[in-house]
Amino acid sequence: MSEALPKKIGVYKPTQFLGHGAMGNVYLCHDESLNRMVVVKQMVPSLYDHGTFVERFEREAKILAKLNHPVIVQPYALWQETSGQYSLAMEFVYGKSLRVLLDKKPKPPLWAVMEILYNLSSALAEAHRYGIIHRDIKPANIMIDKNGRVRLLDFGVAHDENDQELTEDFAQLGTASYMSPEQIHDSKSITPASDVFSIGIIACELLLGQNPFRGTSLAETFSNIQKKKVSSKFFDASVPKEMVIFIQKMLSKDPKKRPMANDVAEFFSMNMRRYPRDLRPYILEWANATLNEAETTFTPAMYSEKKKLSFKAGLITGAVVSIIAAIAIHFF
Ligand SMILES: Nc1ncnc2c1ncn2[C@@H]1O[C@H](COP(=O)(O)OP(=O)(O)OP(=O)(O)O)[C@@H](O)[C@H]1O
Ligand SMILES: [Mg+2]
Repeated sequence: MSEALPKKIGVYKPTQFLGHGAMGNVYLCHDESLNRMVVVKQMVPSLYDHGTFVERFEREAKILAKLNHPVIVQPYALWQETSGQYSLAMEFVYGKSLRVLLDKKPKPPLWAVMEILYNLSSALAEAHRYGIIHRDIKPANIMIDKNGRVRLLDFGVAHDENDQELTEDFAQLGTASYMSPEQIHDSKSITPASDVFSIGIIACELLLGQNPFRGTSLAETFSNIQKKKVSSKFFDASVPKEMVIFIQKMLSKDPKKRPMANDVAEFFSMNMRRYPRDLRPYILEWANATLNEAETTFTPAMYSEKKKLSFKAGLITGAVVSIIAAIAIHFF
């Protein structure tokens, strides 16, 4: 993709055009003052012409900047040029998007699926606590960075409903296939539960190897999201049954029946208790192997429940021996 680079955007020097998303043009830039790379998004004028979007976006960007959550990509600055142009500078994530990785090789191992879902849901739980809804959860907005950390991009992004009608365009179909039923019905009725539905779709895509709602047209995709039930028969036998049931709950058509993002984080955290706490080296290895279309060989070992039981048994035995010894000393 070639696009003429502006000389400067605010105080930043553009070095590369990264793409054109729902909000507008995206540039990789150099911040000379701190000698670091940043990403700058220039909003399309139709977005800020409608006023209310900028108001909400500004309020949410301020809260996100304060949250300082390790998964949430940090906004650095939001400003308006004298020309009226709004721009947002944010942290540059050096890594690969989950979209790229899944296109190379679908179905990551179960531990990697749980690590991704845990990180996403805990970041969302934190944002939801402060009244912020993501609105655009999809693999293209999730990255695995160079340290093996899961990162979530593009909070609060709005698609301009007046200007950017959803079309049969490939990219639009990609975005549409992660929407919740209520989001399709009326984009203004989005609640935190809509983000949970989108995470449920990502959970299915990770475990099944494809998005079960994605159709060959926008109409088919929307109809699937509104009507289709994801049967437990679709999942491999290696996926725990209670995980399948939990994901089906996340995909309830009625938003009130879905768990909250915090419950989702708790669920995956519980299911990961037998794995090492820090899975980043393994995630990094998996991401690199996936990019090279190779098998992942460096995988985390699970602590066995048996070991835990024998530790418990050891404690009980120790206590009994001490009591017998104390009694023996008392009598002899
Ligand atoms: N903070 C960032 N760090 C690294 N790359 C980024 C960052 N933000 C965006 N990009 C990259 O820039 C490109 C355009 O991003 P953009 O978010 O505008 O589009 P999108 O993700 O396809 O759609 P959407 O607007 O719905 O999020 C993508 O390739 C994306 O991976
Ligand atoms: Mg994006």
